[in-house]
This record gives sequence, structure tokens and C-alpha cells, in this order.
Amino acid sequence: MKLNWFKNSNPSLRKMHVMQIQLITVLLVLVVKINGAALNATNYQYQLAEQGTPAPDLQIVDILLEDQNMVRAWGSNLTAITWAHAVNNQQLLDEALSADIDFIEADISLGKLNGEGEDLPVMAHPPANISDLTLAEFLNQIMDFNRNHQGQEKGIKLDFKSIEVFEGSLDILDANIPNMTYPIWINADILSGPVDQNKTVPVDPDRFFAGCNRYKQAVLSIGWTTNWGADFREGEYTEEHCNAMLETLTQNNVLFTGQGITFPVRAGIAANSEDQLHKLVASVNGTNESTLTVWSSAGDYVDVAKLRKLILGFGVSRVYLDVPEELAAELDLGNTRNGASTYKSLFGFGFVSLCFWAISSWLQRF
Ligand SMILES: *[C@@H]1O[C@H](CO)[C@@H](O)[C@H](O)[C@H]1NC(C)=O
Ligand SMILES: *[C@@H]1O[C@H](CO)[C@@H](O)[C@H](O)[C@H]1NC(C)=O
Ligand SMILES: *[C@@H]1O[C@H](CO)[C@@H](O)[C@H](O)[C@H]1NC(C)=O
Ligand SMILES: *[C@@H]1O[C@H](CO)[C@@H](O)[C@H](O)[C@H]1NC(C)=O
Ligand SMILES: *[C@@H]1O[C@H](CO)[C@@H](O)[C@H](O)[C@H]1NC(C)=O
Ligand SMILES: *[C@@H]1O[C@H](CO)[C@@H](O)[C@H](O)[C@H]1NC(C)=O
Ligand SMILES: *[C@@H]1O[C@H](CO)[C@@H](O)[C@H](O)[C@H]1NC(C)=O
Repeated sequence: MKLNWFKNSNPSLRKMHVMQIQLITVLLVLVVKINGAALNATNYQYQLAEQGTPAPDLQIVDILLEDQNMVRAWGSNLTAITWAHAVNNQQLLDEALSADIDFIEADISLGKLNGEGEDLPVMAHPPANISDLTLAEFLNQIMDFNRNHQGQEKGIKLDFKSIEVFEGSLDILDANIPNMTYPIWINADILSGPVDQNKTVPVDPDRFFAGCNRYKQAVLSIGWTTNWGADFREGEYTEEHCNAMLETLTQNNVLFTGQGITFPVRAGIAANSEDQLHKLVASVNGTNESTLTVWSSAGDYVDVAKLRKLILGFGVSRVYLDVPEELAAELDLGNTRNGASTYKSLFGFGFVSLCFWAISSWLQRF
């Protein structure tokens, strides 16, 4: 390649070289941008929505600046946050509190403490409804722990399994949530979802949002009931599912309360639903950025390549990942340059460089 662009003293040649360099700079920026977008499709997509139609070269600068704003606005790598899942008894809570994890997820059902006495909110996943740990005691112990471990506080995600247990828990939540100086998520499956799920009754959305309304600091984690497992392949969060979600959020005025919103989606199904989920998240942009929380049951079928594409498409600053360790390892999110896109980038770059070389050699002949 010719590297002696500045050495010529002939003025007309100099002018031509300056033009060459300008052209190269513009094309280089384009190449970098296109390669970047390929690796991070979401950024690109969200900017497109906001971008007007400025003059072509101003547009390039705009995109680069917006990139930086996005990085600041969306914060860091949410997939790096670690979870203790289904912490539904005293022993698991002890383990979770002494483990090096960030968030404690647990299920709340109406049932009995040790199978005796009156019905009350206990930590249990249906069909179980007996536990050695009540919701009140669970929250109490985490608050004690967090008070004594500043800087290492653990967040809480409460998964309410019925509207009855949620409403029966409001007094307990009232007493606790205002004192929490750490993340609190309130989760419920408020709509029927894939695949033709009709066994579990969803938590009534209107009554759920009415209760959540007083906890402004709580993140609303709202999803669909699901029917999935090892033998499933087909099934997705359809446009109808997503529209129903958007509709109930709008009807209940949840989009402008300033409360954070995350959509818990089951890994195996989410992997098949990329377009619909992008549309949903892009539509829930009223006052806040919503996120996805990808979760999975052990043994669920998951198309790992498709799930990986979904997560990297949204970007790791928009996706929480609460999945079994084996699946997290298979996703291999650290290695964001997969073979195909690296190959494409190299090819794209090589091809453009080759064109430059050809054009510049040709111009040298004058
Ligand atoms: C995608 O963009 C986000 C926000 O700008 C950034 O934090 C993340 O690291 C990017 N992901 C990849 C795979 O480049
Ligand atoms: C707990 O489960 C048992 C057995 O399924 C059931 O009979 C009982 O009504 C349940 N209790 C509550 C509070 O739902
Ligand atoms: C919450 O804080 C208030 C006021 O500081 C206090 O009276 C109350 O006991 C606290 N509740 C819990 C559950 O710690
Ligand atoms: C649930 O869906 C299945 C499959 O679509 C159907 O056979 C069954 O009758 C449905 N059950 C109820 C209670 O609607
Ligand atoms: C958006 O939600 C986050 C919690 O997820 C909260 O910290 C932030 O203040 C909210 N921003 C706005 C503008 O409401
Ligand atoms: C927010 O979503 C609406 C659709 O619900 C869309 O028309 C609008 O362009 C979106 N705004 C941004 C900034 O993405
Ligand atoms: C995000 O966190 C995951 C899990 O710790 C890690 O594998 C990945 O490299 C991180 N990605 C970025 C872009 O920081």
C-alpha cells in the first residue's frame, strides 16, 4: 500500500491527496460504525427511532454522540448480576445470604407455617403451600442482613403466585418496603402466555397494579404464565401476548408512574420471539427504559444460539439473566465476537481497504 501521501510537492497532487484522505476518513468512520452496529444491533435500532434526517455527514457524528449517551443512560452489564433462585425456605435463605450473589428471588403462596395455624403468606412455590419461612420473616432477615453489610446489600425479587396472596401481603409490604434502601422487585404473571397456557390462573393485573401503585421505588416485574419444558420446541411470545401486555400497562396508567418495568421472559420461548420483544420494549418508553429478565427452569429446552442473539441484540445493559449456571456458561456472553460476525467485519474492512488501495493507486498515476 502507498504510504507516501504527504511527500509529493506538486500542489494539484497535494489537493487530490487531501481529498483522498477525507474520503478515507469518512469511509473509515462508516466501516467502524457498520461493524459496531452489527455487533450491537439494539443501539442502532433505538437510535434510528430518535434520529431525524440531518445532512449525511452530520448524521455520522450524531450517531457516534448518541452512542455515548446511551452507554451512560443504560448503565452497565445487567447480565453480570447474580441470582439465588427460588429461595423458599430457611436453609436456602441462610445459604443465599452467605453466598456471593446480588439478588434473592423467591415465591410467595398463601399457606401455612410448618403446616399449622392460620393461612398466611409463606415462601413456597405451588403446588407446595407449606413452608418453614413466612414472608414477614424472610423480609425481616434480609433487612437485618443488609443493615449489617453495607455495600453488599442484596436485592429482593418477590414472585407472587396469586392475587389473593399478593393482597394478603400488602400490610407486610407496607411495613417493609419504605425502609428498604436496596432494590425491591415485585413480580407476577399477570397474563396467560405461551404455549396455550391454561393451567395456571394469572394474577389479576388490575388488582396487582392497584396494590403496587403505593410502592414507587419497586420495580414492576410483569410477565405471562408459561407452559414449557424439555420437550417443547415451538412456541413464542406472540404479538397478541405483547399487545395484551401493552394494553394492560396503558389501562392501568403504569407507564408514567416512574416505576421501573422489567418483563420476565422464559429463555426457551424468548429465544423464538426476538421481533415481538423488541417491539414491546420499544413501545414501553413512556417515562422509563424497560428491561427483559431472561429466566429458565432447569431442564427447559433452549436454543442457545438464538437466545444469545436475542440478548446481544438488546445489549447486556438491558437484559437481566436469571438462568441455571450451565445455560449461562453455554451462552458465553463474554465472547461477543462470534465467528460469523468477526469474519464479516474482517471481510468488510478488507474489501473497503482494497478499494482504497485501487483508487489511490489509480489517482497516483495523474
Ligand atoms: C451494546 O451497547 C450497550 C450500550 O451502549 C453496551 O453497554 C454493550 O456493551 C454493547 N454490547 C455489545 C455486545 O457491544
Ligand atoms: C394448600 O394445599 C392443599 C393441598 O393441595 C389444599 O388443600 C389447601 O387448600 C391449600 N391451602 C391454601 C391456603 O391454598
Ligand atoms: C421502618 O422504619 C420505621 C421508621 O424508622 C420504623 O418505625 C419501623 O419499625 C421500621 N420497620 C421495619 C420493618 O423495620
Ligand atoms: C387447555 O388447552 C388444551 C390444549 O389447547 C386443551 O386441550 C384443554 O381443554 C384446555 N383446558 C382448559 C381448562 O381450557
Ligand atoms: C427509571 O427506573 C429506574 C429503576 O429501574 C429508576 O432508578 C429511575 O429513577 C427511573 N427513571 C425515571 C425517569 O423515572
Ligand atoms: C416510543 O414508542 C412509541 C410507540 O409506542 C413510538 O411511536 C415512539 O417513537 C417511541 N419513542 C422512542 C424515543 O423510541
Ligand atoms: C457481561 O457479564 C457477563 C457475565 O459476567 C460476562 O460474561 C460478559 O463478558 C460481560 N459483557 C460485557 C460487555 O461486559
